[in-house]
Order: sequence, then structure tokens, then C-alpha cells
Amino acid sequence: MPESGANSLDAFWMPFTPNRRFKANPRMIASAQDMHYVTPDGRKVLDGTAGLWCVNAGHNRPRITQAIQRQAAELDYVSSFNMGHPLAFTFASRLAAMTPAGLDRIFFTNSGSESVDTALKIALAYQRARGKAGKTRLIGRERGYHGVGFGGISVGGIVRNRMYFGTLLAGVDHLPHTHGVPGNLFSKGQPEAGADLADSLERIVALHDASTIAAVIVEPVAGSTGVLIPPVGYLQRLRALCDKHDILLIFDEVITGFGRLGSAFAADRFGVTPDIMCLAKGLTNAAVPCGAVAVSRTIHDAMMEAADAPIELFHGYTFSAHPLACAAGLATLDTYREEGLFERAADLEAYWQDAMHSLSDARHVIDVRNLGLIAGIELEPRPGRPTERAIEAFEAAYDAGLMIRVTSDIIALSPPLILEKSHIDQMVETLRTVLGAID
Ligand SMILES: Cc1ncc(COP(=O)(O)O)c(C=O)c1O
Repeated sequence: MPESGANSLDAFWMPFTPNRRFKANPRMIASAQDMHYVTPDGRKVLDGTAGLWCVNAGHNRPRITQAIQRQAAELDYVSSFNMGHPLAFTFASRLAAMTPAGLDRIFFTNSGSESVDTALKIALAYQRARGKAGKTRLIGRERGYHGVGFGGISVGGIVRNRMYFGTLLAGVDHLPHTHGVPGNLFSKGQPEAGADLADSLERIVALHDASTIAAVIVEPVAGSTGVLIPPVGYLQRLRALCDKHDILLIFDEVITGFGRLGSAFAADRFGVTPDIMCLAKGLTNAAVPCGAVAVSRTIHDAMMEAADAPIELFHGYTFSAHPLACAAGLATLDTYREEGLFERAADLEAYWQDAMHSLSDARHVIDVRNLGLIAGIELEPRPGRPTERAIEAFEAAYDAGLMIRVTSDIIALSPPLILEKSHIDQMVETLRTVLGAID
């Protein structure tokens, strides 16, 4: 690559990337199809991470591509502020028919971060609308990731995502994360111990008083901080405590939505219905950026009735319900349904679990955890040099034809739901070789 000029790599300040390291040794992708990326020199790379937990139906699916092409030629854009186009309403209705019962009012955004900030704002506005304007505190969780808006990083619990950016939102507190409970290492599926960690909400309520708390937000399965699976009963307990204290429960389902856990949503898998759900990523199979917030009818209707101005919610994005996103989203939902991809994920889960746990004795591995088609493989950090070993594993796996994701010293896997058992075998073999080869 040239050092400077029109083709230089310098101008693009890459997100969440060690820019200098990447630009010294760039990894470029030219195309993709189904389970694979293809590099500019024609090398195939198996996608072990569905893009970034988002390409759940696999890459470049013709039905989705064609829907986008048709829509771009017909209606490129119309605002959703006081205007509409039919696909937006169809897409919202289709989503509302999929989401857990009662969560059937849909607000469109363009990303997971926007969905989170939208959900937090709706929670606050709802509390005010029903005469509980004092309920302004938001409770997140340590090691939570809720995107990068100021709301999301405030309730999020990743230190480096917060520490550079000032004082963030006021009035936020955090539950403890659910990881590291003795006895839970190498759990297959949900770990047995730790449901009582939800009881920390009682401590937070005792400290701040429930009359000041609007909402609790958690990822049902925390992905970005290294695949933290909720202990058996934990989410049920959190739901019960939120009900007890009249606090809204928000599930950030940005990665768990759309089949990742073998069901449409984590809420379905765990049998726990939140009041608000944040969606993005798999919503459009990542073909066009799009996010959504599914809101309970109770919240929605209360806000309609209590509105003190013709506009019931002073919030929205230029690209909310963008026609291309709606077209991509509808084609994506059709693909999931017709190919039975959520069921496919459920069917593959046992094979996936066994395959991932077969890496328990691979070099450097200190924990393996899994649920649905997600796995976390934790490596022992090098003394005094955290993350280094995982970054080397990432680079070596890529060179060996496998795209993985690493976060601190944890390998996170979340393949497209179309994968075959042979792909799972390939992932395991590649990882064993890679881990055996790095120090
Ligand atoms: C749970 C969760 N919430 C929110 C986000 C943010 O989504 P986006 O990057 O689309 O803003 C992510 C992204 O990984 C996520 O995993």
C-alpha cells in the first residue's frame, strides 16, 4: 500500500482498531459469500463471527441483495418525520409479530448504540409521563457493552470505553457482572451458580431508593466482554426484582436477537420478557445499517395518552426506517423463516457445544463457555502483557483461514447460522493448531 496519496490507508481513522498496527499489516477483504470472506488475492477465510455478530444468514444472500437493489431504484429515501413509506409499517408489523407478546411497538434506529440510547430515553420519558419524574436513575452492569453513545457507555461497564470520556450520564449505577463464580469454569450452557448476583439490585435500591430508579439494562448474554452466560435463574430473578420495585427491565438483544441462541430472541429462550428490547445487527443481516427498539404496549400507550404536545416522543433519526434498511430487513426475516435458521441454530447447539469444549485441553485455554451458537474460549494472559496472546491468536487464525474475534484474552465465536458441522470441525482444528503454535 502506498504511504500517502489517494490510496493511502492514513485518512480512515478505523473504529476500535489499533490503527498503527493494522496499517503496518493490513487485512483486507474483497468479497464474501455465505460462510466465507475472500481476500483480494482470492484466499477464502471462514467467518467464525458472522461479521460482528450480525451476518446471521451468511454473507451476500441474493434475496437480501436483490431487495435492496429493487428498493434503491424505487424509493431511495423519504423522511419518517411526519411522512411514511409502506415498507416501514410492514417491517414494524412483521417485527412486532416476532417479538415476545406485549412488546409490539417498534421504534427504528440505525445501530445498536442508537437503539440503546433510544431505549434509555424512552424509559425516562415514560416514567415522567406516568407521573414518576423522580425515577431518573439508570442501572447497568459491570462488563456490560451497550454501544458507544453517551447513554450506552454510561450504563456500560467496560472501563476503557468510559474512562477517556468525562463524567458521562449522572445517576447511573452498576450491578456486578456474573462472571468468575467459583465452580462455573468450563460450564456447558448456562452455569449453575450465581443467580443470587441479581440480588445486588436490592442493595442498589437500598442505596438510592426505588423511587429514583427508572430502568435496569442488561445484555441477556454479554458478548463484547467475552461471552458471559447468565447463571441459571439469574434473569428470572432480575425480572422479579424489577417488578417488585416498579423498575423497567431493558434487554439489550443486539447480539442475542435473531436466532443466535436458537430462538428468535434471548427473551424467548430464557422465558423472561423485558419491558423494552434493543435490536440491531441481525435485524437486516447487516446488509444495511438498522436498529430497532421493541417497546411494551403499556409503555407506548401510556406515552400516547399522557402526551403534552402533538409529538409524543421528541426523538428520532434522519435515517429511522430508511427504505433500504426496511427492504433488507424484510428480506432478512423472510430468509430466517424460510430457511428455518433459528431452528437450525438450536439443532446445531449440541454439536457446537461438544466441539467447543473439545478445546478445553488445548494450549493456553483456561475456560470454555457456550450457549446457542456462541462460544467463549478464554486464554491465560501472558504475565504483565494482557491481550497480547489473543491478538496473536487472531492474526494467526486469520492467516490460517479463520476469522475469529478476540476481546481481552478471550476468543469469541458466533458464526453465521447457516454453518455446517464441517465448518465447526474446521474452526476447532484451526484453533487447536493456532493455540499450539503461539507462545
Ligand atoms: C449488546 C450490544 N449492544 C449494543 C451494541 C452496539 O451496536 P452498534 O455497534 O451497532 O452501535 C453492540 C455491538 O456490538 C452490542 O454487542
